[in-house]
Amino acid sequence: MDRRRFLQTALTSVAATSVFNRSVAAEGAYSVADSANAAEPTGRLQGGLTRPLREFRLVAQQGEAEVAPGKVYRNWMYNGQFPGPEIRVKEGERLRIIVENQLPEDTTVHWHGVPVPNAMDGVPGLTQKPIAPGESFVYEFEATPAGSYIYHSHVGLQIDRGLIGPLVIEEATPHVAYDRDYVLVLDDYLSGDPQPLGGSAGRGGMMGRMMGSDREGGRDGWWGGRRDDGGMMGMGRQMPPYQGLLIGGRLPDDPRVFETRRGERVRLRFMNPSGATTFRVAIGGHRMIVSHCDGRPVEPVTVDSLVLGTAERYDVIVEAANPGVWPIVIAAIEGNAPPGRAVLRYTDAAATALSEGVPEGLRGGYQLDYQDLQSLEALPVGQPDRVFDLMLSGGMMGSAWTINGQAYPNADPLMINEGEHIRFRMRNHSMMLHPMHLHGHFFRVGNVLKDTVLVAAHMGRAEFDFVADNPGRWFFHCHNIYHMEAGMAREVRYT
Ligand code: C2O
Ligand code: CU
Repeated sequence: MDRRRFLQTALTSVAATSVFNRSVAAEGAYSVADSANAAEPTGRLQGGLTRPLREFRLVAQQGEAEVAPGKVYRNWMYNGQFPGPEIRVKEGERLRIIVENQLPEDTTVHWHGVPVPNAMDGVPGLTQKPIAPGESFVYEFEATPAGSYIYHSHVGLQIDRGLIGPLVIEEATPHVAYDRDYVLVLDDYLSGDPQPLGGSAGRGGMMGRMMGSDREGGRDGWWGGRRDDGGMMGMGRQMPPYQGLLIGGRLPDDPRVFETRRGERVRLRFMNPSGATTFRVAIGGHRMIVSHCDGRPVEPVTVDSLVLGTAERYDVIVEAANPGVWPIVIAAIEGNAPPGRAVLRYTDAAATALSEGVPEGLRGGYQLDYQDLQSLEALPVGQPDRVFDLMLSGGMMGSAWTINGQAYPNADPLMINEGEHIRFRMRNHSMMLHPMHLHGHFFRVGNVLKDTVLVAAHMGRAEFDFVADNPGRWFFHCHNIYHMEAGMAREVRYT
């Protein structure tokens, strides 16, 4: 057996094609953003008959991370890192991840978005027995299709303790050209232990902030936004008391810096494994060319800002043509957490101060809409064999969040048959956003493939279609973990 140490280095180069003309090939090299934080393979790279096996070890354990100078976050983490180490493999490789539980309670890991075999999906009580303290579980699956994914605990509120991380499956032939490749993990910061939001939650006046509404510039601090402007009156109890927003595990006082040089194209992989936050993202002085949605390739579309519900991912290309030091800003659409930021810095620009203030893209400009997305892959077509109408509600009385009035686990499974074309139609009768996620399948929304779809508050609607091609018992739920834990979930079961 061939054993050698596999090192992920910035020397790797890939063939890539132009952003706008897929027929013109160009050569590009990329670098791994933060290789110090990347997961080290355990040392085994086994050449099988068909595909190489890449093995990693994730230890769920108590950890400490500095989120700002002198500000230490103590909670549960993977390999003592927050966010967890970047797992990066190539399309078509086989992944084996040994998860060791050193926590005082059960855990599991879910590979969000990857259509793994059911037994590898990491949902406790549905696809596996939870991993007890002191025990291990080995997850093994094919790294396909290529894309930007996340991994996270699927037990209780453990996501809001820090059990999250990025998983990148690099495509063999990207449809966009780029010189650098950076992962940006967006998160909400809760310094203490997460608590269920129940009891009197929801009885306040619920003037939810609508998607797309703008914050205004103004007084204090670099952001100058109003933090307690009442835009979320009564929503305080609907959201955990997040103290800030993080990019790559850092508060805005000590931002992550992503370097570029004039003339380069930078691929930014925005990922949202947060517990409950929907982000709006914009970059000072630059527009973004959206190239991938939930990991899957789309026709490039240029925007000034985009919105990511929990668990959604967008890859964008930024053309570095405006030298300086620019903020990459994230703002919460629900809740009062102050914004977060990272920095895009030109190394070949004369020493400049960070451009402070709100990027234009957050004050105006064009915001990406699902309607703008056109997949480059085959989509399910035709009429569905089976349709489910699903009413999302909760937050008014008591603490339950429901689908058609039922709160999981006291809820009927949605029964489907292999080979069927299924349609889910959702209507949101509540005052909050719901990022709805189906495990084990990609689905079609508009003209794009996704695994999570944001259903707007106040009677928002969304629908998606998928082909039942991955038998098993799959979880379907709101990815706001507080809603999920309070019942907004169903099992989708193949007969
Ligand atoms: Cu990110 Cu049930 O999933
Ligand atoms: Cu929800």
